[in-house]
Amino acid sequence: MSSKVIITIFGASGDLAKRKLYPSLFRLYKSGNLSKHFAVIGTARRPWSKEYFESVVVESITDLADSPEQAQEFAGHFYYQSHDVQDTEHYIELKKLQTRLNQEYQAEHNKLFFLSMAPQFFGTIAKHLKSEQIVDGQGFERLIVEKPFGTDLSTASQLNQELLATFDEEQIFRIDHYLGKEMIQNIFAIRFANSLFENIWNRNYIDNIQITFAEQLGVEERGGYYDQSGALRDMVQNHTLQLLSLLAMDMPSAFTKEAIRTEKVKVFERLRKPSQEELKKLFIRGQYKSGTVDGKKYISYRSEPNVNPESETETFVSGAFFVDSERFRHVPFFFRTGKRLTAKGTHVNIVFKQMDSIFGQSLEPNVLTIYIQPTEGFSLSVNGKEVGEQFRLAPISFDYRTDATATGASQEPYEKLIFDVLNNDSTNFSHWDEVRASWELIDQIEAIWQENQVPLHHYEAGSMGPEAAFELLQEFGAKWQWDPREK
Ligand code: BG6
Repeated sequence: MSSKVIITIFGASGDLAKRKLYPSLFRLYKSGNLSKHFAVIGTARRPWSKEYFESVVVESITDLADSPEQAQEFAGHFYYQSHDVQDTEHYIELKKLQTRLNQEYQAEHNKLFFLSMAPQFFGTIAKHLKSEQIVDGQGFERLIVEKPFGTDLSTASQLNQELLATFDEEQIFRIDHYLGKEMIQNIFAIRFANSLFENIWNRNYIDNIQITFAEQLGVEERGGYYDQSGALRDMVQNHTLQLLSLLAMDMPSAFTKEAIRTEKVKVFERLRKPSQEELKKLFIRGQYKSGTVDGKKYISYRSEPNVNPESETETFVSGAFFVDSERFRHVPFFFRTGKRLTAKGTHVNIVFKQMDSIFGQSLEPNVLTIYIQPTEGFSLSVNGKEVGEQFRLAPISFDYRTDATATGASQEPYEKLIFDVLNNDSTNFSHWDEVRASWELIDQIEAIWQENQVPLHHYEAGSMGPEAAFELLQEFGAKWQWDPREK
């Protein structure tokens, strides 16, 4: 069913809006989820006209539109207001535009606000939305918030309080775009629709779980933001821990947002708080030096634009988390994430426990691999007999993979996530309890690093990160299952 709604985007001239939001809204338009009764108000500081804004929108969807007329018709739903988020007068104008468009498009007072700009303004915007009665209690009123949600527990809590002054938790949708990825959503199916897996998804059968988010790219033009953030806050506090929670949770009583959230929150609450000694041993940080990726030479992180030449910011993190639940107590969840690594790939490896071998030959563990990107799918490796007279074992792989970008099979995460918000489905969003618990843990690691109690390893661009990240697993008698250097 098509939604009736006025969508207001704060940060309409930004990169994210052009690259992700407009194309995603257009796909929703093409599939009929948005049709006649919607309008978009774009706001940003720049003094754009409606015509210019429309041309920006058209340009961002050119490849997706069936015809120039279709693109233009869609862009006709877009309105622009030059806006200084600190200026109350501007919200009065915004209210007028909102009221007019609500009538024109018969949007039944439904409102969706998208905060896609510097997070320090989120609180100010939320406050004004209420004081100027743009949020007026009529129709549905929902808020989408882009990351980062704070930079530590204290700033995240403050931001949350500010948002709660205007919106309830149920109305706040904190985006984690990984939760919109096809194969991350598929984890529910793999785990809870297959007795084969669900029955052995616990510490009796699983030796360890490995999560890799590898990027070939460097910091690109985001040096200014990234140098203040680092990989721990940029990738671990959100994406890594969210993914971990889906892998570690117990089966929800139903496939509903409430039941899933209940189980996810339990995982966050049971994340083990490491001791000071463990904090030093279990988490590794690194920063890329210059090096070669796919035959191309790259500069070091410290030479990147807008990065402090003496920066101590990490571009790589690896470590082991533990979940103190009946299901997973003592099972390490190893993770690593880094920029300028050998290859781009997000993979999860579930490594099953070894059984005793009667074959006079050691056994390879069974491994279930979930490929999240760039290919999507999964594979299961088992031991079989090699063809031939002699009885020798060899690993066999059941492999199901698609190249989603080539087939166009998977939706863009933002499209899925905006669709969910329109349908009031918060399953694939981060809830406050989860965000709070994740910051508590991240702050502990960050504190040790701030005191320089662990080294910052320098790894070559094009490698798979510092040696220390390999040694960490060796200490647990494990090894990284995915090594893109072995092809
Ligand atoms: C973002 C991070 O959340 O995720 C970026 O801020 C990172 O630093 C990006 O590059 C990775 O997302 P994806 O979808 O390209 O794997």
